[in-house]
Amino acid sequence: MVDFKKSKMNGFSYKEWNDYFSRNDKQKLKIDFSQEENLSETVKKRIFPSIREFQRGEGSDGGYLMKTVECFAVRHKVPEYKGAMRWFVREENQHSTYLKTYMDFHHIQAKESPFLDRVFRKLRHLGGIRCEVTVLVTAEMIALTYYDALSKNTDSAVLKSICAQMLHDEIPHVMFQSYTLSHFKNNLPDKWIRIILMEATLLFVWGAFHNVYRAGGYDFGTFLKENMGYLHQSMELTDRKPVMPG
Ligand SMILES: [Fe+2]
Ligand SMILES: [Fe+2]
Repeated sequence: MVDFKKSKMNGFSYKEWNDYFSRNDKQKLKIDFSQEENLSETVKKRIFPSIREFQRGEGSDGGYLMKTVECFAVRHKVPEYKGAMRWFVREENQHSTYLKTYMDFHHIQAKESPFLDRVFRKLRHLGGIRCEVTVLVTAEMIALTYYDALSKNTDSAVLKSICAQMLHDEIPHVMFQSYTLSHFKNNLPDKWIRIILMEATLLFVWGAFHNVYRAGGYDFGTFLKENMGYLHQSMELTDRKPVMPG
């Protein structure tokens, strides 16, 4: 499991997050299909239902999100947050494109409106930025075990490179969102909401995609332990005082 406490990004202000995202944008993945072989039907049946779900979940136009970002930036006097979130949305859309490119190569159609994506979008729109970020970071923590497991499902160098890029980008995302949540008071009921949301989502994800996790070396116990471990790390980060602009 990744230890967030060891990362220097923990102390980042929004100005530093802006700088990080703009640097990271220059390191996009170059996907090379020249060595890619066809996957067996068994592997395709195992991996693509979840890839289609995650492909849709990664993409967003960010319209509603950016309205809530604007309010937060004004209230907390952090105008740099708007730029950082624009970079973030751009990076997530790039993730969606990576997965779509892989699906296209294997002639897999995108999913119109996957169940989990619909539920998450509804939940995100229930409240302001805090609600948005709480839901987003839950999905991003689960993505850490998902892309780790997915990369071990095939010998495809392309899929492994996509999963490695996702993990490289999603780990900072969890720290970035946790930093935003640290601007709010995080009382016990707030923590319980995060725990319940995480547990409910984990049950759905395991129920729907346990074959991918099992083939990637996870059983339900390790899946649960690792994801809840990430949640506890994120909650520790939200208990820190935010870096004041200046
Ligand atoms: Fe992503
Ligand atoms: Fe992300």
